[in-house]
Amino acid sequence: MSRLTRTLLLASSLASGAAAQNGTQGEGLHSLMVAAGKLYFGTAMETNNFDDAAYQAIATNKNEFGMFTPENSQKWEVTEPTQNDFSFTQADSIAERVLSNGQLFRCHTLTWHSQLPPFVANGTWTPETLTAVLTAHITTVMQHYAGQCYAWDVVNEALNEDGSLRSSPFLTTLGEAYIPLSFTIAAQADPSTKLYYNDFNLETTPPKTAAALSLVRAVQSAGAPIHGVGFQAHLNVGQTPSRADLAAILTSFTALGVEVAYTELDIAHVAPALPADEAGNAQQAEDYAAVVGSCLDVEACVGVTVWQFTDRYSWVPSTFPGKGEACLWTEGYEKKVAYERVVGLLREAAVVEGGGGGAGGGAGDGSGSGNGRWGKWVDFFRGKLEYVMFDAYTPRP
Ligand code: G3I
Repeated sequence: MSRLTRTLLLASSLASGAAAQNGTQGEGLHSLMVAAGKLYFGTAMETNNFDDAAYQAIATNKNEFGMFTPENSQKWEVTEPTQNDFSFTQADSIAERVLSNGQLFRCHTLTWHSQLPPFVANGTWTPETLTAVLTAHITTVMQHYAGQCYAWDVVNEALNEDGSLRSSPFLTTLGEAYIPLSFTIAAQADPSTKLYYNDFNLETTPPKTAAALSLVRAVQSAGAPIHGVGFQAHLNVGQTPSRADLAAILTSFTALGVEVAYTELDIAHVAPALPADEAGNAQQAEDYAAVVGSCLDVEACVGVTVWQFTDRYSWVPSTFPGKGEACLWTEGYEKKVAYERVVGLLREAAVVEGGGGGAGGGAGDGSGSGNGRWGKWVDFFRGKLEYVMFDAYTPRP
């Protein structure tokens, strides 16, 4: 597809979005989230989801989803499997699909101990050689996607549950300085994107939460830019903290001047409660509502991303035998009670945010633009995106 075609596609999707915004063309997670004053409701997606028509019917519906994260395709083992040999085909195909549909792209991930290629995982490093490798990786990948990513998960899962730093080639060779170093390199590579620290169990594990707060402060003290903290929120039914407790945790981070987001939300039923019964599904609905509600309660919480929206593609059962049914849609693409509960919650919030405009008025086209708190910012980002797609969207080296 040529650059001009891409630009025309994006312009046409933005134009049709603007037209639809005047009406009440349905409602869904994303359009209601925007009407409630947030930036997006998103999902993870992978290239193996492309040929599933039922999946794509939901994913391309901008009322449901306004932001996409590649589940695996931007990880180091995929983008630089051997040293200085970069491959962007997989993630490009997701970016192109999403951006040409007028949806946003959230990028994941750069400095992480897992899914590393063998040359990094098994290499013998000095601080100088590993710094060079890290710099080349972050710079090349981020410059390839420059202007296309709302945010990047720059450092992922650097902490253990007790708050200590997780072992990795980066920690072993560079010490904790690898964290601010990664943010500094990232800021130079693409100054237009938001730079996030992203981790799991920050919602449930106080020593880890405290360590993450210290990590943010340490990056700031080192003079490196950090704009956001991602709460992965891989949670269990009946073990999810309350909305108030979650909001308090988010607020402890936003007090440091960073924004926050839920970046990989799923809430799994745990054996023997599988297959889930009515009571289990009702509890799951309450747990989803607590998480989404806590984002609504914190002004600098920008959005929620689920880690796949259907049980058909959830990572949970294969990684944790005895856990499952963690998503908002069933394997057969039926909406669960949790979906309806979240939509109901957002509908109420949209009424409040819209000053009594009503649910229909609150739900727009899912474009992410308009009257929400983040509308002007999204319009600004989209302006940049359109420029980038016109000027430089051809795959870069
Ligand atoms: O690509 C190979 C394929 O060639 C092979 O045939 C197949 C056989 O099992 O494996 C494929 O690799 C799988 C990979 O996903 C890509 O599909 C791995 O086995 C599988 O373990 C890997 O799982 C991913 C996991 O990260 C790895 O850590 C999940 O899909 C992905 O959802 C998960 O995502 C992470 C986030 O990035 C960070 N936070 C936690 C989250 C859940 O673990």
